[in-house]
Amino acid sequence: MGSPERAMLLALLSCQAAANVAANDATWHESSANDATWRESSATSVTNATLRYLSGGVVPILNGSTPGMVPKVGNNTLGVEDGTIVVVDGMLHMFPTEMHCGWTKTRVVHFTAPLDDNLTWTFRGGVTPYGHGVCDVDDHHAKLWSGSPQWEAPRPGEPEGRWYMSVVGYNEDCEDKAGGTDGRILMFRSATAGRGGIDGPYEELDDILKADGLVPMAGASVLRPYRSALPDDPPGRLWAFYGSGWDTGQCYSDTGVLGPWTRAPTGNPRPIGNWSDGGPENPLVFKSRSGVYLLIWAANLLQVEHGLAFAWSKDGVNWEDNTGGGIRTGKAGYMIPVSPPGHVAFRTPLALVEHEERDNFFTLFFTAFENDHANPAAPIGGYENAYASEVELVLTF
Ligand SMILES: *[C@@H]1O[C@H](CO)[C@@H](O)[C@H](O)[C@H]1NC(C)=O
Ligand SMILES: *[C@@H]1O[C@H](CO)[C@@H](O)[C@H](O)[C@H]1NC(C)=O
Ligand SMILES: *[C@@H]1O[C@H](CO)[C@@H](O)[C@H](O)[C@H]1NC(C)=O
Ligand SMILES: *[C@@H]1O[C@H](CO)[C@@H](O)[C@H](O)[C@H]1NC(C)=O
Ligand SMILES: *[C@@H]1O[C@H](CO)[C@@H](O)[C@H](O)[C@H]1NC(C)=O
Repeated sequence: MGSPERAMLLALLSCQAAANVAANDATWHESSANDATWRESSATSVTNATLRYLSGGVVPILNGSTPGMVPKVGNNTLGVEDGTIVVVDGMLHMFPTEMHCGWTKTRVVHFTAPLDDNLTWTFRGGVTPYGHGVCDVDDHHAKLWSGSPQWEAPRPGEPEGRWYMSVVGYNEDCEDKAGGTDGRILMFRSATAGRGGIDGPYEELDDILKADGLVPMAGASVLRPYRSALPDDPPGRLWAFYGSGWDTGQCYSDTGVLGPWTRAPTGNPRPIGNWSDGGPENPLVFKSRSGVYLLIWAANLLQVEHGLAFAWSKDGVNWEDNTGGGIRTGKAGYMIPVSPPGHVAFRTPLALVEHEERDNFFTLFFTAFENDHANPAAPIGGYENAYASEVELVLTF
């Protein structure tokens, strides 16, 4: 905490009570973990990787006119940010954070769209209750963020498999306008077994990822597990980014999504972004069918003007430094425009979903402040929409 630029940004963005920009979203492709569907990695000879904007990203896919979205009132910080998209049986399931009163009292909601009509979304309801928003109650349920569905494959005692949903719970510290340093991973479980259980309803289990297990990374902010390509990983090991207070690191579990999760012994915090950038937010990892791992996040203070922060990896654990000639976002990664000039403002990533019929082509889902995205000169803040762009993964060998 304490960067003057960030304090200014937060002051601009604050609706009321403690702002919380640290909450992360996550996106989940059904083949990302727990399914034995990985292709063998062909990534070892890649020397550079980038995402190239192709089309889209200007007209919102969710805005104040979409049934189920909160109504637009003045320039209050409302709408959606963070969240998760998972593909299940040809359907996209998005789990964004719904802001009906700025960054507090939030809940996780559910929208769906057919994969072949990914611009038309239907509201399916709340996944979690609303956060209570009460100051100084130490139960990590003042604001509920960043739903991330997690598929646990069939196993003894759970013959159909089951969906879990990690959610980040924060306290409301009304004195600390920056907030976002005390996230805990709360785990919800679908009451319905099998792949169709993605629709819920979801019931809360005990906290699984208390900050204590993972210090000194000050809390947790998202949990979106995937498998690495490290040859010496034990079978079934899951990796995930986590962190808050703008430091971001990696952890792993050898016992499924419920953990326990162990902080990676080396390399934390990961060198993505830094305090000058306002810190990294919402780091999401996607394994492309090429085998290359794609890391996208919001480089706070930069992304409101320049788009998406990006880095890549051959194994999902070691991230390539100095890959980009664009705007630097710290030691690794660079900024990718998400729309044509004049519309590149970006808030948080939602998903990179690779086209089923065409390798290396992705739909990028993201959120952005409507005012700022339409007019870069507009003050930062206001209603947050969701958008979709088409991008190509360009690999150099
Ligand atoms: C939502 O977006 C559509 C398409 O751009 C636009 O026609 C409509 O006016 C927008 N609604 C709001 C409330 O901004
Ligand atoms: C909202 O922001 C826009 C863009 O800066 C501005 O033109 C408009 O006057 C603001 N509306 C209100 C109600 O403050
Ligand atoms: C990798 O690709 C990016 C995007 O084209 C480019 O800006 C950068 O210079 C490349 N890096 C190297 C080391 O070639
Ligand atoms: C931190 O980010 C700033 C702004 O992008 C950049 O100028 C600086 O070199 C970065 N510092 C490190 C250590 O990466
Ligand atoms: C999203 O829809 C567009 C057409 O509107 C299509 O080209 C693209 O392949 C779709 N994305 C995915 C991931 O299927």
